[in-house]
Amino acid sequence: MSELAIIGGTGALDLFESSEERGMDTPWGVPSAPAVRVGFGRAEAWFLARHGRPHRIPPHRINYRANIDGLKRLGVKRVIAINAVGGIDAALEPGSLVVPDQLIDYTWGRSHTFGDDEESPLLHVEFAHPFADRLRAGLLDAGRSAGIGLKDGGCMAVTQGPRLETAAEIARLARDGCSVVGMTGMPEAVLAREAGLDYASLCVVANPAAGLEREPISLEEIERVLATAMLDVRRLFGKLAV
Ligand code: HPA
Repeated sequence: MSELAIIGGTGALDLFESSEERGMDTPWGVPSAPAVRVGFGRAEAWFLARHGRPHRIPPHRINYRANIDGLKRLGVKRVIAINAVGGIDAALEPGSLVVPDQLIDYTWGRSHTFGDDEESPLLHVEFAHPFADRLRAGLLDAGRSAGIGLKDGGCMAVTQGPRLETAAEIARLARDGCSVVGMTGMPEAVLAREAGLDYASLCVVANPAAGLEREPISLEEIERVLATAMLDVRRLFGKLAV
């Protein structure tokens, strides 16, 4: 099978035992962190900490181009992204895992293409289906083998952050058909597409989205939920047939 990378987000810094570490440099700058070689189950992959190690880079300041290009230069052909999200669909309780099949990009001002100047080729990539079917199926199969109920499908809203959303924004995202909301799915997914890498997202629901509960969203509670949910994520990767 071709080389796999996992891009880990909030709460997913130390999911796996790592061995080798590989610094990366790219024409787009330096990625968020060195890639580390991780093993799980019978498989190995490169793991990249999206927010840096330690966690310090906010979603809108991540150098997504360096991250994707750096992984490509390591020989990576497939990427599984782990994204912490808020749940818009009330059925998605904190701790739920979702494998979305669509996204809507609400971000702005991020460097979102490798074709950014007159010297680079103009890239009008096909993006009707942003996530790779085979990788999605692999995640869903792994969830079944691990006895973890994954939600198959749903639309991920990607907001600019770093603030959380207003209640009205979440109501709008719900009307737009989004079931989860995160801040890091784009431009990561489209850059992977431009780079010719297969890409899928495993969303970890950290909290009910803004305005869905009377209590304000608590960052301590998000961390607590993610810490527990990551145990499921790790078990799931242990069953991934890669
Ligand atoms: N909104 C956006 N991103 C998030 C959220 C949220 O509620 N929770 C975790 N990441």
